[in-house]
Amino acid sequence: MKITVFGTGYVGLVTGTCLADVGHDVLCVDIDEGKIEGLKNGIIPIYEPGLEPMVVRNHKEGRLNFTTDAETAVKHGTLQFIAVGTPPDEDGSADLQYVLAVAKTIGQYMDGYKVIIDKSTVPVGTADKVNIAIAGVLAERGYQTDYAVCSNPEFLKEGAAIEDFSKPSRIVVGTDSEQVCELMRECYSPYNRNHDKLIFMDVRAAELTKYAANAMLATKISFMNEMSQLAEHLNVDVEQVRLGIGSDPRIGYQFIYPGCGYGGSCFPKDVQALARTADSVGYDAQLLKAVEAVNYRQKETLFAKLQRAFDGDLAGKTIALWGLSFKPNTDDMRAAPSRVLMESLWEAGANVVAYDPEAMNETHRIYGKRDDLTLVGTREIAAEGADALVICTEWKAFRAVDFNWLKEKLNFPVIVDGRNLYNPEEVKKAGLMYYAVGRADSLRSCI
Ligand SMILES: NC(=O)c1ccc[n+]([C@@H]2O[C@H](COP(=O)([O-])OP(=O)(O)OC[C@H]3O[C@@H](n4cnc5c(N)ncnc54)[C@H](O)[C@@H]3O)[C@@H](O)[C@H]2O)c1
Repeated sequence: MKITVFGTGYVGLVTGTCLADVGHDVLCVDIDEGKIEGLKNGIIPIYEPGLEPMVVRNHKEGRLNFTTDAETAVKHGTLQFIAVGTPPDEDGSADLQYVLAVAKTIGQYMDGYKVIIDKSTVPVGTADKVNIAIAGVLAERGYQTDYAVCSNPEFLKEGAAIEDFSKPSRIVVGTDSEQVCELMRECYSPYNRNHDKLIFMDVRAAELTKYAANAMLATKISFMNEMSQLAEHLNVDVEQVRLGIGSDPRIGYQFIYPGCGYGGSCFPKDVQALARTADSVGYDAQLLKAVEAVNYRQKETLFAKLQRAFDGDLAGKTIALWGLSFKPNTDDMRAAPSRVLMESLWEAGANVVAYDPEAMNETHRIYGKRDDLTLVGTREIAAEGADALVICTEWKAFRAVDFNWLKEKLNFPVIVDGRNLYNPEEVKKAGLMYYAVGRADSLRSCI
């Protein structure tokens, strides 16, 4: 099939590449000329495991192409995926300006039947807005053609995006058109051989499904973080509680790790946007607002623990950070807990020495060069001579540590572990003070 994908970010690039990899003829379009130039030369703008060789191979074999020319892009595909960003607006609702700009572009260059597919995460009612935007431009042009707008939200996880796209648990399509159902079935048939994963529903239900899925997962995380705070107050080890509840199949082990809060480009903005959607129809979504508030508070927990460890005096201290990305296997720093910690440390007059396996360039891009931030090439260099070590991201490379060695390297024997990676007994045996999240003897963050 001939497919156009608007946006070559995490979702657009993975979607385009995976669809090309199963044999479709894909043209990816972006307004960012640097990104498109890079992609044509095999330079991938993001870190996503397995993506680079797939992009290079499919581009070389001619199934995956890149352009900034919107007219060529619109004329190319019968299917037009919109996978551009939907960042939070000032009030937290989803900013649809990029989605609607693409809709207008499609209207401007459409030369026959097209299916416009909202893959970006968009609030209920957006397909109608996309429809109206296209109809408006077509009317201005005095051009008439059939087209359909459908919703096909994306559920991939950064860090495992190719696996998720290629082996989806479900493919949700919101449409009331038989023709769209057939075309979407054809598009996704390579992923549908084992059993039927397509779930067809109304457009509005599909739009809400995406937000509901993310809100549910964020709720599990915030719930567990709430338990971790309670555990600290009650002197209980929350890790034992996690095992005790995760074993119940109705609860399960996934998404109940206590930590330093969820980040990334999706959960924070999507929970917020759904709450704003609720506000806009006069419904006070109390649970969603609580999920958001608990997460906000949890992100402050690492700084609060450090403050307690140093009696509130962090000025002039050097704090080592292991992990900067919001989760492992990505370089994405959007809403990462490490950012809240670094910014609080700088405000308190402390210096940060940080290492992350993939997110150093992104950190540099965000914060630039500053005297109180040093980015170093290994976890060992980061720890050397630091006054405390904080684990912000649970990268595999941080899981096994020689604590006796660490004790030697650190100026003060303090570890604040935002991901509960280590066995407290083992760490303490080496003479280190270990403050994890919700574990017995954790320093209460008192936030
Ligand atoms: N990142 C994820 O894990 C994830 C998962 C599921 C859904 N989503 C949703 O998918 C959407 C895209 O997210 P992302 O993380 O890929 O965003 P991103 O910011 O990484 O990429 C968006 C891209 O769109 C491009 N763009 C903007 N306007 C354009 C236009 N008019 N024409 C062509 N390109 C344009 C930008 O230059 C950018 O390259 C969002 O709605 C997001 O919520 C993201």
